[in-house]
Amino acid sequence: MILGGIGAATYLPVLLVLGFSPRTTDIGYQPEQPVEFSHAVHVGEQGMDCRYCHTTVEDSSFAAIPPTQTCTNCHAPEGEGPGIHQASAKLEPVHESARTGEPIDWVKVHDMAGYAYFDHAAHVNKGIGCVTCHGRVDQMEEVYQAETMSMAWCIDCHREPEQHLRPLDKVTDMTWSPEDHGMTQEELGRELKELYNIHDVEYMTNCSTCHR
Ligand code: HEC
Ligand code: HEC
Ligand code: HEC
Ligand code: HEC
Ligand code: HEC
Repeated sequence: MILGGIGAATYLPVLLVLGFSPRTTDIGYQPEQPVEFSHAVHVGEQGMDCRYCHTTVEDSSFAAIPPTQTCTNCHAPEGEGPGIHQASAKLEPVHESARTGEPIDWVKVHDMAGYAYFDHAAHVNKGIGCVTCHGRVDQMEEVYQAETMSMAWCIDCHREPEQHLRPLDKVTDMTWSPEDHGMTQEELGRELKELYNIHDVEYMTNCSTCHR
């Protein structure tokens, strides 16, 4: 019991310190990446869907970063068929990775603390769009963190999810608006909340929903 008491006394302060470290609250955090890969070009201009690369968002807690093979579908190295901008120096690290089998060392942008549990599938399959949490990725030359991803931010939405719900076939759409359906977000959100059978506010804001 004494050991338990000491554990509880240190756990909370440690959480408080970790929770406010700049890494987890910095809007705009934008680490340099090993390849000048642009979402603005691939999504904004080429119109690619998020799920072409982030294949697991609908099925798992984690949104997979694509393997080099996904890139070489279009950017094959010399001698392995046609590749878009094959001679570009910007693609050298991609070709190098394809030749050696060493994965590209992408730097994580979002890094939530391990003591909170997040699940992509739970959100994407209930009509929360990527843009709601990640901002206009289709306009980003380099990805940055668009929201605080703090506990208060999570809970704000968990209290009133109807403010953000959208049709399931629009979750990767960056420009969708409820007015496309001739409704306000409030009206549509209430309908969808019922349809998707969203948990009540008590469950959604319970500590153990996110701290398991
Ligand atoms: C052509 C492949 C491709 C497509 C399409 C794509 N992404 Fe990405 N995405 C990547 C790669 C590669 C990275 C890792 C490098 C980086 O952060 O730029 C990444 C990183 C990210 C990150 C940051 C991950 C982290 O480290 O925290 C987010 C968020 C993201 N993508 C969201 C999206 C969204 C939303 C869409 C659709 C609107 C999308 N992506 C479409 C390839 C893609
Ligand atoms: C479906 C095809 C497709 C896939 C898959 C794809 N790209 Fe591209 N990428 C393009 C096109 C098309 C362009 C050129 C756009 C332009 O020039 O306007 C391009 C341009 C680029 C450029 C800029 C090259 C230069 O010299 O300007 C880089 C770097 C790049 N892609 C990296 C990647 C990476 C890394 C991946 C994998 C995560 C990837 N691409 C996946 C189609 C693709
Ligand atoms: C409800 C908010 C929310 C939605 C909706 C959401 N994400 Fe995320 N995303 C997050 C959070 C929070 C993290 C950080 C998770 C972590 O660090 O453990 C994250 C991380 C990521 C990452 C980095 C890899 C990972 O899983 O940690 C990628 C890539 C990504 N998201 C892409 C997407 C795409 C694509 C969509 C839409 C199909 C999407 N996200 C929808 C909140 C969201
Ligand atoms: C924009 C709204 C929104 C934001 C932001 C958001 N969520 Fe959610 N979250 C939802 C909705 C809607 C559901 C689905 C609830 C359901 O299935 O009844 C959900 C479900 C969950 C679940 C699964 C609950 C279960 O047991 O089914 C977890 C865990 C969760 N969210 C954690 C988080 C965390 C952690 C954050 C912040 C990093 C976060 N959420 C941010 C809207 C949001
Ligand atoms: C909707 C999800 C969610 C719920 C519900 C939730 N938390 Fe959190 N909590 C988080 C996230 C996300 C973080 C921050 C993780 C990070 O900064 O990387 C966090 C951080 C914390 C921290 C660290 C300090 C801080 O404020 O950042 C403490 C302590 C904490 N939570 C306790 C609780 C308690 C007690 C409850 C119940 C009253 C609760 N949480 C309910 C998601 C949640």
